[in-house]
Amino acid sequence: MNWNMPHKESHYQQQWGLRNRLSRMIRPETGRSVMLACDHGYFMGPTTRLENPRKTIEPLVPYANALAVTRGILRNCVDPNWDTPVILRVSGGSSILREDLSDEELTASMKDAIRLNVSAVALSIFIGTQHEKQTLVNLGRLVDEGEEFGMPVMAITAVGKELEKRDAKYLSLACRIAAEVGAHLVKTYYCEPDFSKVVNGCPVPLVVAGGPKLKTESDVFELVYNAVNEGAVGVDMGRNIWQNDHPVAMIKAIRAIVHEDATVKEAIEVFNQESRKGMVETSIPA
Ligand code: 5RP
Repeated sequence: MNWNMPHKESHYQQQWGLRNRLSRMIRPETGRSVMLACDHGYFMGPTTRLENPRKTIEPLVPYANALAVTRGILRNCVDPNWDTPVILRVSGGSSILREDLSDEELTASMKDAIRLNVSAVALSIFIGTQHEKQTLVNLGRLVDEGEEFGMPVMAITAVGKELEKRDAKYLSLACRIAAEVGAHLVKTYYCEPDFSKVVNGCPVPLVVAGGPKLKTESDVFELVYNAVNEGAVGVDMGRNIWQNDHPVAMIKAIRAIVHEDATVKEAIEVFNQESRKGMVETSIPA
């Protein structure tokens, strides 16, 4: 290390690994990201259209800037030759059979995350629940370890079965708390009205999940369009991509909004064009 470097620069050098990992996921060309969420099985089991994770993931991964999975799916269903950065889900402890999903602990170590060469680790926090404190302490511990090893930590503001919680008041609180405890990145939900208040109150980049499958493709594109235009750096989306009958067309249309500033109308055109091609994909982005 050059000890004559001003303090700030040497700090950045120490953070090189963390920044490099982040820039593999949030693309420097656009400052945005399309993350593909396939970690649902850790509490939902073999969810519809994710029964065979490799079959679901393989055609989509060339279009994703990051792939979110658990270590079991990573080891067994993801080809180590694929070049897509991985976000490793490291929290769990409950299943959909229980009413309260908030009772989570850390389920994979930082050592394993590094061994798996992932680009970030992710955990859920459950603000306002019985296990709020426990999940925030999990986050604090993970951030301490992440800082030590240059590993970004993504906090997910989970709502469990209480989907109605997804309003600006609740999400602003949850996202801000995640950032205050030290998350480098936050995954939350889009909400109307006032999503920009959620973004403005959170000093770290935000991505949005899609939630359960929406009625139409155009509803999904609107959600993505509004989220990025109100300040999200992108999406970490699952069911609205791979539960669609044309998942590749979906992810390509979402990429157009996130990385090329396409409008909802333009995204529908991309979707229609790509879905006509069926499941056989021809052009893979660099
Ligand atoms: C599961 C998750 C999912 O990754 C997240 O909800 C995104 O997926 P979807 O778009 O299907 O909601 O955190 O716990």
